[in-house]
Amino acid sequence: MLKGFIFDLDGVLTDTATYHLAAWHELAQRLGIHLPAAADTALRGRSRMDSLNLILRYGHQENDYDEAQKAALAAEKNQRYQTFIQSLTSADILPGIPSLLKNAKQHGLKLAIASASKNAPLILRRLGLFAQFDAIVDPQSLH
Ligand code: G1P
Repeated sequence: MLKGFIFDLDGVLTDTATYHLAAWHELAQRLGIHLPAAADTALRGRSRMDSLNLILRYGHQENDYDEAQKAALAAEKNQRYQTFIQSLTSADILPGIPSLLKNAKQHGLKLAIASASKNAPLILRRLGLFAQFDAIVDPQSLH
């Protein structure tokens, strides 16, 4: 019996992938790393630290930073990303999602988000959807 729906966030409820990529590209450029076109696909759905490690590998800089420096670089990217998503509103919810969520709720179904993004709660709040979800889970936390 159907008990609920589990949604990915980036690219499903709203299109934040472009903002993630823009922020990663800015960081890569500052570090003197050229990202090939294939990087945009490779970066999708990866956690923040996995994404940073991949970018550093593209630039052959994977051994140039210790963990604290990497945390600072990841935080720098996230600050930039958060300035991009400041303007998100309910108008940025992708088509069909509001009626799907409403129908699911009317049928008593549970709603959850499965996202690697630590910004998921913030984004759901900006979209005005936070209260509709019963759970937010990072799939990487399930082992
Ligand atoms: C992280 C990554 C981002 C990736 C996202 C997957 O988000 O930084 O590039 O697309 O996971 O949803 P963050 O935790 O930084 O919001």
